[in-house]
Amino acid sequence: MAKKVTKIGVLTSGGDSPGMNAAIRAVVRTGIYYGLEVYGIMRGYQGMIDNDIVPMNSKSVANIIQRGGTILKTARSKEFLTPEGRKKAYDNLKAIGIDGLVIIGGDGSFRGADVFSREYDIPCIGLPGTIDKDIAGTDFTIGFDTAVNTAVEAIDKIRDTADSHDRLFVIEVMGRDAGYIALHSGIATGAEHILIPERKTDIEELIDSLQEKGRRNKLVNLVVVAEGDGFGGADEVAKIVKERIPASDTRVCILGHIQRGGMPTCFDRLIASRMGYSAVECLLEGRDNVMVGIVNNAMEYTLLEKAVKSKQTIGDEWLKIVKILAS
Ligand code: F6P
Repeated sequence: MAKKVTKIGVLTSGGDSPGMNAAIRAVVRTGIYYGLEVYGIMRGYQGMIDNDIVPMNSKSVANIIQRGGTILKTARSKEFLTPEGRKKAYDNLKAIGIDGLVIIGGDGSFRGADVFSREYDIPCIGLPGTIDKDIAGTDFTIGFDTAVNTAVEAIDKIRDTADSHDRLFVIEVMGRDAGYIALHSGIATGAEHILIPERKTDIEELIDSLQEKGRRNKLVNLVVVAEGDGFGGADEVAKIVKERIPASDTRVCILGHIQRGGMPTCFDRLIASRMGYSAVECLLEGRDNVMVGIVNNAMEYTLLEKAVKSKQTIGDEWLKIVKILAS
């Protein structure tokens, strides 16, 4: 029989993502609703090690649901990767009496939580907070929808210039080694080509297709490249295109960190609120070492280890859609 939790800690770790604040708010307010003491751990696992832990109340999370970034700040802690670092963190939590943790972050954060919850008697619940959507056991991650919408807005603007100058743009989006931001933003902006790490990029096929479009006088071409694409980023792709099709007026645009910030969309606020609420319920029910996800609009719980290892997959039909619609 699991011990009843009384004091819980919440932290954000890894890259920030829009909607993390909405998730923190949900954890804090649900915890208070159930009579728990809630603590905010600053700068992710590093704050656990440095004992940078603050009590939170309902007011500490007022007026943050609409804000990007994370009020708890975030970090990628190297010290937490060591047994000594994790022991320090555990001792600090124990001294306060924290007996449950909610970790909002991506795959690196879950790996840390997985190890910690196996080593020590503090249950850990993960919430998928990453713009990359590179986690299994959930249809969406907190921040992905906002990041894609940011990318869509930017690519729409680039299209205006591409159209006015008859130019070819190679646009790089984030996603680390996952292609979801590229795929979703590329389809939504009508990109002619989308290059993602999940499929081997055939550069010859890309050149042939661009040349063929040139012969048909299709002058606006948007190529969206995921930063993790095996061929290389937008600069690499543009270099080859310029060499092989010298007549093309080619430009590169790397969207970069603008995709990480900004006001979360309604969708991200909603899933963050549902997941944050559910994380506290999980701790109260005695669950440990799982990630809260949403699959087919219902809550689902996946072992942290599995969420990190399995990844989501991109079916061939997605790429068929790109090909047909961009012809
Ligand atoms: O994981 C989120 C992410 O924005 C990735 O898409 C990107 O590869 C990485 O973080 C960038 O990390 P940093 O902000 O440390 O440069």
